[in-house]
Amino acid sequence: MKFNWNYPTTVWVGENRINDLSEACKNLHIIKPLFVTDKDLVNLPFIKDIISENLKKFDKFNIFSNFAGNPIGENVEEGVKEFKKNNCDGVIAIGGGSALDVGKAIAFMCAQTRPIWDFEDIGDYWKRANEDKIAPIVAIPTTAGTGSETGRASAIINKKTGIKKIIFHPKFLPSIVILDPKLTLDLSPRLTAATGMDALAHNLEAFCAPGFHPMADGIATEGIKLIKTSLITAFKDGKNIEARKNLLVASCMGSTAFQKGLGAIHSLSHPINAQFNVHHGLSNAIFMPYVLTFNKALVEDRIISICDNLNLEKKFESFLNWILDLRKQLNIPHKLSEVLEVKKINLEKLSKMALEDPSTATNPKKMTIDDMKILYEHSISGKLF
Ligand SMILES: [Fe+2]
Repeated sequence: MKFNWNYPTTVWVGENRINDLSEACKNLHIIKPLFVTDKDLVNLPFIKDIISENLKKFDKFNIFSNFAGNPIGENVEEGVKEFKKNNCDGVIAIGGGSALDVGKAIAFMCAQTRPIWDFEDIGDYWKRANEDKIAPIVAIPTTAGTGSETGRASAIINKKTGIKKIIFHPKFLPSIVILDPKLTLDLSPRLTAATGMDALAHNLEAFCAPGFHPMADGIATEGIKLIKTSLITAFKDGKNIEARKNLLVASCMGSTAFQKGLGAIHSLSHPINAQFNVHHGLSNAIFMPYVLTFNKALVEDRIISICDNLNLEKKFESFLNWILDLRKQLNIPHKLSEVLEVKKINLEKLSKMALEDPSTATNPKKMTIDDMKILYEHSISGKLF
């Protein structure tokens, strides 16, 4: 049997570690970085402070921020032009998932002659890449959810087709990640809850995914524990630095663990996010108990095995009740029908999209289109399995 495991990221964690940004660049021999963030973030005071601080430390410090959430291929092209025009030699990507994804894609595409779509995450397309001049990346998340900072892919929308494509190459992986909880202190309770539940979904689905990967399982277990300790605290008291640090770390752990695979929570979410513009973390939080109970027969033993570590009674139901209570405390609705108009739902179409989602392959229970339909129906009616 063969297994490929990937854990090569250097992670610097702690309050004010953002002050070590120039040292991170120095370690990677970056002297002319392209600072990539989105157009909303670039005007926020804490980002302005980081920029002005680093303008003093680098001879050349160029900024690219001409893009918003849900980035398109053209955003990456424009960033690559900026990178080349200014003879940059590395990327500092700072922000939420979109900014990190654009920064990673710029660092990769500055070395390519083929269009970005030739590197979609299909088979061994990634082997088409010219690896020689891919630029080093320093990634700095300002939300605790997607975990793009330790991911080897970026989600970029192809404007022509309107479809979000996963662009993959092992060298998308940032070389140094800075997790500074101070950068997340201003996240609203609503976003804290949604992104935190996305991080929980990554850890939980990775842990439940079939396959032999004890390293991912160990990371996922501790990631779940950190969320249990800290998500409600950060939701209620956004300035709690310890809770913010734990969530950033849990988010980073979730994306590290989900190289093992995700599952039906993400399969059901992706079509809802694309069609109804519902926040990804919010839909994951809604679907979580339905998928958990749907998969019960196949995951019960695994879930019971981590109850002790989570200070829960050793029963599947105690874990399930913890999830239900967590959602309630975070003001997350129990039913999908509470966040979108049910009459607009085309169950056939959504179920087909969910079944075709790449996350479906690693759901513990083998899925059919009828299973997807039933899961959507239950999440609308509120009935658990
Ligand atoms: Fe996710």
